[in-house]
Amino acid sequence: MLKAVILIGGPLKGTRFRPLSLDIPKPLFPVAGLPLIQHHIEACIAVTNLKEILIIGFYPVTQLQQFINDMQSQYKVIIKYLQEFTALGTAGGLYHFRDQIRSGSPDAFFVLNGDVCADFPLTELYEFHRERSLTSLMTVMSTEATRQQSLNFGCMVVDKTTQEVTHYVEKPSSYVSTSINCGIYVFSLKIFNFMGETFNIKQEEYYKNDNGNVNKDAGYLQLEQDILTPLAGTGKILALQTTNWWSQLKTANSAIYANRHYLGLYKQKHPERLATGKKAEQCTIIADVHIDPSATIDSTAVIGPNVSIGPDVVIEAGVRIKESIILDSAFIGERSLILHSIIGRNSRVGKWARVEGTPSDPDPNKPFAKMENPKLFNNDGRLNPSITILGCSVSVPSETILLNSIVLPNKELSRSIKNEIIL
Ligand code: GDD
Ligand code: GTP
Repeated sequence: MLKAVILIGGPLKGTRFRPLSLDIPKPLFPVAGLPLIQHHIEACIAVTNLKEILIIGFYPVTQLQQFINDMQSQYKVIIKYLQEFTALGTAGGLYHFRDQIRSGSPDAFFVLNGDVCADFPLTELYEFHRERSLTSLMTVMSTEATRQQSLNFGCMVVDKTTQEVTHYVEKPSSYVSTSINCGIYVFSLKIFNFMGETFNIKQEEYYKNDNGNVNKDAGYLQLEQDILTPLAGTGKILALQTTNWWSQLKTANSAIYANRHYLGLYKQKHPERLATGKKAEQCTIIADVHIDPSATIDSTAVIGPNVSIGPDVVIEAGVRIKESIILDSAFIGERSLILHSIIGRNSRVGKWARVEGTPSDPDPNKPFAKMENPKLFNNDGRLNPSITILGCSVSVPSETILLNSIVLPNKELSRSIKNEIIL
């Protein structure tokens, strides 16, 4: 039997994802029509004999309860949310809830960072680990990055013949390796012995230093620095490289990029989730597009490519939408154009308006390039060009232009804006 853990962090994290996460926790933000971590759940349930998924984070349980109930009724595995009392780090929660993870003696358990998106090769990862589990405690999924981008990730030196991780540095300041940690792992239960030893050493230090680090709980443990780094070179960590699509979801730009890839994956795995435009009275579809069945779209609208339209959205005549995410109950008035943008829940775009952002994709000329996750502002304090984002319940008047702008929730705009943040 197998289990999986999804790490989702909590309300203090993911600041780069605002304002999209102001009214919905980032793990529940819809990408290709599904909450972000539902893609993780679907990857887990596709693994034979996986019986339980534990979602660990420090969001108040009230923010996730409805989602957990929905997932539980939709899928036949046990799905639970375990709330940390405070941020315990990427390994502190695993150790804190170790009895829950160990119960029923699973053969191994997966750990997935909630903020990655991928064509998760979990079965392959488990098979690889199982064949070597006598000696190894864990297998890390790795992928190739460019030299420059590798510095933003956990970097691993991997022995090509044995696949052992001989050296691990989390976000190094100078080049170590282009093999990076994908935040996708499989562990044997024996890992808890090592975590326990590390935990005890850290506890001693914590109390010796008169609670030295007051910002962190005594139980705070980082999987990367406290577990992976010391285990590297002992023969107990292996890495399996994937060439499947993989990305992080840190910024709104990366949500548009992930949306496109998840829609692409539906072609093989869930063609029923893609709109075809073949039925009479349907609007023109340029693949790939996902439209929630409850959305109302005029037959003269042209939608796609790479668009997701949420529940109860209304789209009027002559609208054109491309490379965008339209969240639930949004309204797009007649003849408006939406390009490279995210339109928040309940937002309203008037007629003949133009809402446009600047796309950012991994550099196609650099092999293995990943999405950049730039800060909102550049060094002169100006907004970096980005996709346009309307927070929830924003209203855009008719005949206005919004370019590369971010509008916080509940704003009523009265004019056109360009490269601005409306607070
Ligand atoms: N439960 C819980 N508690 N989850 C946490 C906590 C915590 O205190 N802190 C972070 N997480 C979750 C985040 O929500 C995220 O899903 C994941 O753990 C990783 O957290 P970050 O701290 O944001 O790390 P990162 O994304 O910058 O880097 C990690 O992932 C990269 C791949 O995406 C590292 O593991 C890197 O080595 C790796 O390359
Ligand atoms: P920076 O703070 O920009 O460095 O982001 P980060 O790298 O710390 O992002 P991280 O990967 O830690 O963010 C991941 C988690 O934060 C997500 O899984 C969400 O659980 C959560 N999150 C992000 N932003 C918000 C927010 O504004 N509100 C709430 N409620 N949760 C958020």
